Amino acid sequence: MRYDLHVNPATGPLPALPTGTSPDHAGPGAFHRSLPGYHPTPLRESAELARLLGVRTVLVKDEAVRLGLPSFKILGASWATVTAVLRHWVTAPVTPLTLDRVAAAIPRPRTRRLVAATDGNHGRGVARMARLLGVAATILVPAGTAEARTAAIAGEGAEVVVVDGSYDDAIAASAALAGPDTLVVSDTSWPGYEHTPAAVIAGYATLFAEIDAETARRGLPAPTVVALQAGVGAFAAAGVRHFRAPDRPGPPPRTVVVEPTSANCLMASARAGRLAEVPGPHRSTMAGLNCGLPSVLAWPTVRAGTDVFLAVDDDAAHRAMAELARASVVAGESGAAGLGGLLAVALTGDPADRARAGLTPEACVLVVNTEGATDPVNYHRVVGHHAATADDVPAGVA
Ligand SMILES: Cc1ncc(COP(=O)(O)O)c(C=O)c1O
Repeated sequence: MRYDLHVNPATGPLPALPTGTSPDHAGPGAFHRSLPGYHPTPLRESAELARLLGVRTVLVKDEAVRLGLPSFKILGASWATVTAVLRHWVTAPVTPLTLDRVAAAIPRPRTRRLVAATDGNHGRGVARMARLLGVAATILVPAGTAEARTAAIAGEGAEVVVVDGSYDDAIAASAALAGPDTLVVSDTSWPGYEHTPAAVIAGYATLFAEIDAETARRGLPAPTVVALQAGVGAFAAAGVRHFRAPDRPGPPPRTVVVEPTSANCLMASARAGRLAEVPGPHRSTMAGLNCGLPSVLAWPTVRAGTDVFLAVDDDAAHRAMAELARASVVAGESGAAGLGGLLAVALTGDPADRARAGLTPEACVLVVNTEGATDPVNYHRVVGHHAATADDVPAGVA
């Protein structure tokens, strides 16, 4: 396991974001709770992981099954899709805001289409939303996307287009498809395209709100360290906005953003003091994190609210997958990456780096397993056995 660590000298107040919502509905939490199959995902405590990290408590928020899909990404994809549909296709207010009412409000005939570029998880969420809303979907994936991930998107009824290039090339190709009947639902942003990615970040807030509710209910300690794995940085931005909210009581936890060494665009941007690109090909098995360009919307929040940037090799993610499996948590490569970063520092770093990452004997560490075994072939290779996935679980948004 190898890691690279950068202490961020530029932390400060969080910038404002476009709300990404329309004024006549209650917000992503209420919308998610209205979805069929919604329930909070588990928050698990692991004494063995705490022992490995040398800390008092480890909490694992487990998103291996979320609304019937194998990753947290449906939280952002669903909220971003409905807010984009309401902004572009539906003029009358929809109250209460439910999936059925939004579907019924989309003007016919349904020659309409959702488009997204993806490394797998976001695109599957958008494809699921298109199916539920009764519109078509085209999902663009970079060359080399694992067969199981492509098949799962096609299984939602979407057209899957393989782009000869990286995730960032797929994003550029998807943006070019925008039109009056074609809505691009992207989780990353670029100049002039910010409302939908802001709604993606807002949608992820649901999982962090669930963590607060559950720690309060069980009397668990508040996290003192939060590890957030990052591709374009939208998920990390959501975590930062939650834990550094100005009205949140108590000192904020230390935030550690974890990326693959070969796609560490947030760390490179932090070092450069401006948005920086890490060109591909990005070949990490942490496929969801294989992004060469930060989201322009997420970046200012991540820069202001991240204490430490960590970049790790695939071995770290694989070690974390195996340790999580021992703790009965099914984690894919990107899902395990946050823990992988902390394990690399705890097991191979010196005391100064452990302290920089907040790994002290009194610490309460929060990691989020952001996906299940979305590449079952690699999961078996790394962990040594097969895992049940969201597709084996009957309940969900279906
Ligand atoms: C499983 C998983 N975790 C984390 C991330 C990182 O999210 P973001 O691209 O918003 O940084 C992704 C992105 O696709 C993902 O699929």
